[in-house]
Amino acid sequence: MDYQFILVSKDPAGFAVVQLNRPEVLNAINIKLMEELVAALEALDSDQDIRCIVITGNEKAFAAGADIKEMSDASAVEMLQRDQFARWDRIRKVKKPIVAAVSGFALGGGCELMMTCDIVIASETARIGQPEINIGVMPGAGGTQRLTRAVGKVKAMEMVLTGTMITAQEALQWGLVNKVMPVEFYLEEAKALAKNIAQKPPLAVRLAKESVLKAFDTTIEGGLEFERKNFYLLFASEDQKEGMKAFTEKRNAQWKGK
Ligand code: CAA
Repeated sequence: MDYQFILVSKDPAGFAVVQLNRPEVLNAINIKLMEELVAALEALDSDQDIRCIVITGNEKAFAAGADIKEMSDASAVEMLQRDQFARWDRIRKVKKPIVAAVSGFALGGGCELMMTCDIVIASETARIGQPEINIGVMPGAGGTQRLTRAVGKVKAMEMVLTGTMITAQEALQWGLVNKVMPVEFYLEEAKALAKNIAQKPPLAVRLAKESVLKAFDTTIEGGLEFERKNFYLLFASEDQKEGMKAFTEKRNAQWKGK
């Protein structure tokens, strides 16, 4: 499929890289870009050769938010009818792990896209924030919810109410990103992580991701039960038998994804 605003490449090591590609507007996310991103992620999710996905931008910007110019004149009814942020929910449904490789601006929708990913590798230059308050609105694609869960109430309030950007180091301290790397290496690090995950047994990866995400929308009791059932379910897989046999035989396991 030909895309206008994203670039998709597949690595023989079993992962794909999706690059947001509107550099002239700091990768501002318009409706078409998000349509393409969701279509690409869903295609990769059902691609047997791919086991992990990296989403990135460029050194200057992961994404500077939703496209302000596209929505500035819209009425509330038009926004409701477009319901453009509903499309973002489909990213949450992607079963394969998604690593965000973030450099430069990750603002508004860019920060929200980053938080929808499962693991985040940032460059030292990353500047992260929810600046919607400065243009008369508020986060609309998960910012008030995911940010609050990630960093807690008081820090989320500060970011959302002042629109102030935080540095990569602050984001690291606050648990919003996994690792901060020099700008020359952040993408390579994200790819190495994706390659590592791509080498793990795919069914266990899928159910482990599902189980961690469950923690965000269930009680501890419901979550523990969900986890336990997924754990037991993996004993129906050939990979569980192979993994435990390989351990006792002191050799590397050969995964089949079955
Ligand atoms: N939408 C549309 N265009 C954008 C954009 C956005 N979110 N962010 C940047 N651009 C455009 C600029 O208009 C500019 O285009 P022109 O050259 O045609 O004027 C180009 O990208 C480069 O931007 P700047 O000249 O502003 O670059 P800078 O280095 O001086 O500043 C910046 C960088 C601080 C990120 C600044 O561009 C900025 O504040 N951008 C907007 C950030 C923002 O408010 N994001 C939230 C959007 S709303 C949202 O995301 C809602 C939601 O919850 C989903």
